[in-house]
Amino acid sequence: MQILLLNGPNLNLLGTREPEIYGRTTLAQIIALVEAEAAQRGCKITALQSNEEGELVNAITSAKTNGIDAIIINPAAFTHTSVALHDAIKAVALPTVEVHLSNVYAREPYRHNSVTASACIGQICGFGPRSYILALDALCKA
Ligand code: DQA
Repeated sequence: MQILLLNGPNLNLLGTREPEIYGRTTLAQIIALVEAEAAQRGCKITALQSNEEGELVNAITSAKTNGIDAIIINPAAFTHTSVALHDAIKAVALPTVEVHLSNVYAREPYRHNSVTASACIGQICGFGPRSYILALDALCKA
């Protein structure tokens, strides 16, 4: 099983970005963790981080032709705004899990709505880097 791991804007700064909210684990460490856990489940990870909405849309809509079977996405701030990402996830129709490091529902009200989650099979938030591993479990057992 080939899984596309997408991370949205500012997640390249993990490790130093608001560590009281997002912790001190870097994105490279999260990707390495997900790759190792995926390997144990017989899955392979293709990872992309982008600060550009269009680049994420392109990665999603070309996923099927690139042999991807499922998607894990942390759309970051685009979660709360992006109809384009919602529509791309719907269009490609691959099982997709939305993840967040923080519990967005315990934060500012503008983070309580996800535009993208309703295009996904589920959402996992609040468990730090473990959110990604829980998503992997959801997809590998799907
Ligand atoms: C986030 C939550 C979003 O609200 C925020 O804009 C992020 C990170 C998370 O992983 O907790 O950039 O997606």
